[in-house]
Amino acid sequence: MVQERLKELLAEAEKLMAKADNKDAVERLRVKYLGRKGELTKIFKSIPDLPDSQKPLVGKSANIAKNKLEKLIKEAFQQAEEKPQASPASFDPTIPGAPPPLGHIHPLTHTIEEVSDIFRTMGFTVAEGPEVEKDWYNFEALNIPPDHPSRDDFDTFYVSDHILLRSQTSTVQIRTMEKNEPPVRIIAPGRCFRPDTEDARHSAMFHQIEGLMVDENVSFGDLKAILHIFAREFFHEDVEVRFRPSFFPFTEPSAEVDCTCPVCSGDGCSTCSYSGWLEILGAGMVDPNVFDSVGFDKEKYTGFAFGMGIERLAMLKYRINDIRLFFNGDTRFLSQFSL
Ligand code: PHE
Repeated sequence: MVQERLKELLAEAEKLMAKADNKDAVERLRVKYLGRKGELTKIFKSIPDLPDSQKPLVGKSANIAKNKLEKLIKEAFQQAEEKPQASPASFDPTIPGAPPPLGHIHPLTHTIEEVSDIFRTMGFTVAEGPEVEKDWYNFEALNIPPDHPSRDDFDTFYVSDHILLRSQTSTVQIRTMEKNEPPVRIIAPGRCFRPDTEDARHSAMFHQIEGLMVDENVSFGDLKAILHIFAREFFHEDVEVRFRPSFFPFTEPSAEVDCTCPVCSGDGCSTCSYSGWLEILGAGMVDPNVFDSVGFDKEKYTGFAFGMGIERLAMLKYRINDIRLFFNGDTRFLSQFSL
């Protein structure tokens, strides 16, 4: 009967071994049959109590069974090793997932939105124009005739004789006035191009925000008030602005506008070359010749316009010392602006 028991054990072990698909499971089976308290071990231990006549036979059968089992176990171990370990223990469904990398808006887009929001609260709407422009919008309608030396200040890339990449968002002044009657109160953010050699402060592609307000009785005082409010909202409420006489072909009088240096609050530092002031934009009263270009009544209406560089504003506000950082796609820089 011991022989019967051995057969059963072997058959059972074979079945279980086939299902054991990892080393731990095989090891458990090894212990079950061949361990110190294992099934086969028990049989070996029972041999001394058997009648002498049975001892040799049972001993032989038990040894054969032992050899077969050891072979089975060895094979099962090898198979478990070859199989890729799909160990259920290595997958814990309760662990929170790895967060996917999330994008965010570019610091320049953020700055455009910030500036736009400030002007929206003062009744300005956002207008847009194309980046590939006609000479008319970039120059002629803005009181910059062909071959006039002032073209040099707004030089650009040409697609053909009269088609070019706009070098200023002032183009949108003209486009807006051609399509609308006063009152006009718009800002126009967008990309501009100039054949500048790249360095820490120059880029052949950059962004501006234009502003234009036209109505009866719009004065230089309105311009000063609105730009002062803008500077206070954008930088700091204690910021002061000053207007220096300047020249733009499409405004008369024209001014360059400085604000107290946001880095040193006007005390003088390396950012403002120890002057306490930083130039932030160009502005002026719309030149009557521009009104003529778009058919506005220059006797009835007055207006002001201004234009500022977005990169410059962002660099001042966030203390960025190289304009190229905005455009080289280095996420170590950009990821600091998930504002
Ligand atoms: N377009 C001018 C520039 O690019 C800025 C400006 C806009 C000046 C509107 C006056 C009025 O420098």
